[in-house]
Amino acid sequence: MQKVIAFIDAHRKRFVDDLIDWVRIPSVSSDPERSEDVRKNAEHLASGLRALNPGRVEVWPTAGHPAVFAEWMRAKGKPTLLVYGHHDVQPVDPLSEWISPPFEPAVREGRLWGRGVVDDKGQVYVHTKAIESFLKTVGELPINLKLIVEGEEEIGSVNLDALLRERAADLVADFVCVSDTAMFGRGIPSLCVGLRGLAYVEVFVEGPAMDLHSGSFGGAVLNPVNALAKMIATLHDDDGRVTVEGFYENVRPLRDGERREIASLPFDETEWLRSTGAPAAAGEKGYSTLERIWARPTLDCCGIKGGFQGEGAKTIIPARASAKVSCRLVPDQEPDEIAGKLTAHLKRVAPAGVRVNVQVLHGGRPYLAPTEHPVYEVAKRAFTKAFGRPTVFMREGGSIPFVRTIADATGKPCLLMGFGQPDENAHAPNEWLDLDNYQLGIKSAAYLYDEMSRMG
Ligand code: BES
Ligand code: MN
Ligand code: MN
Repeated sequence: MQKVIAFIDAHRKRFVDDLIDWVRIPSVSSDPERSEDVRKNAEHLASGLRALNPGRVEVWPTAGHPAVFAEWMRAKGKPTLLVYGHHDVQPVDPLSEWISPPFEPAVREGRLWGRGVVDDKGQVYVHTKAIESFLKTVGELPINLKLIVEGEEEIGSVNLDALLRERAADLVADFVCVSDTAMFGRGIPSLCVGLRGLAYVEVFVEGPAMDLHSGSFGGAVLNPVNALAKMIATLHDDDGRVTVEGFYENVRPLRDGERREIASLPFDETEWLRSTGAPAAAGEKGYSTLERIWARPTLDCCGIKGGFQGEGAKTIIPARASAKVSCRLVPDQEPDEIAGKLTAHLKRVAPAGVRVNVQVLHGGRPYLAPTEHPVYEVAKRAFTKAFGRPTVFMREGGSIPFVRTIADATGKPCLLMGFGQPDENAHAPNEWLDLDNYQLGIKSAAYLYDEMSRMG
């Protein structure tokens, strides 16, 4: 391991430069104009991996954006690890809020700034650089390793289930590792043992055939914006609970032990609130902030459209309004069921005088790791070696649909070994990656492969 670690130290700068080259490619999966860039982005990753030969490297087409697959399978009798990441990134708007342009990555304050540096290109490179460090020193990996890097994570992994079915034989492994989460705090190695799921719908409300003069018609036909606002207002009660019938039906309650464990983490609520910029914390009554984010389901309106959006005043009754509504889910809620219940609720509360349609956009299932499996101790050991601090278990409020899909399909435990920071600005302007974490992340991955090679 000494040689491997020395190689990682010696190549610190070049590893950052390589990441900068990749981040320059604007692989925004949601933007049809960028689909050629997403393809180039996959090719860039694949050609970097091909240069590391010998091993199998392929670009897998899907009905949408391609995924990259690679494998190194020469460690006879050793376990096989499947590493997952995504090469697509979120849109960059509002562009004017970026201090340096999102696709011209810049180093400042020991951080790399740019879209996708931490979500998830930097974390994919943590693994490819660890792989490289073994191949260029000892010549082989200590375990068998497969890598799948998808291109549609940020748009709900819509073609992933089909891809996993089609390629099931290629993806057989003993363990799964995903690096696409943040650490609990600065310098605290954190294994994420829970992710929330997601059910995302868009609701469309239609009234008159066209915008009407609000003097000539106002008060005599129903206004779709008013109607939608009223419908959205029915979705929570005064205690912050979701009122959709049956919403909490399959929610696994937090056990006392889990609550104690969460409460024991060094969470600075004041600092957290400051980082959000919000004037006060808010949420479901009876739960702490971390419980609300990690272990309770939510419903949020993510965007709303309707009526006159220009400068000044325009007196109309708008023809239509719409809203994007997402629910974060916890075990054992099912995305399809929740989307169905939410649809039924919205149709039920729709006032007479408007037409209401609901379209399901995408979903993903929640994940809870089987932490009694010995691989979690192995991962803790590796993580602790690299960072020199004890590793904590945490959960995340975000979603990675792949995790539950692969866990269900294979029955294998998934390690969520993330190297981000809670205030990394993922999905927001000025996304950044802590360059110490990048370096220590590469070492953590190397130690993980090494520790795993000694598992019986
Ligand atoms: N890396 C995130 C998942 C994540 C979010 C981990 C927050 C830790 C904290 C991932 O890229 C992501 O953004 N997922 C989406 C999934 C959705 C599009 C299905 C999410 O959580 O919104
Ligand atoms: Mn991600
Ligand atoms: Mn993301």
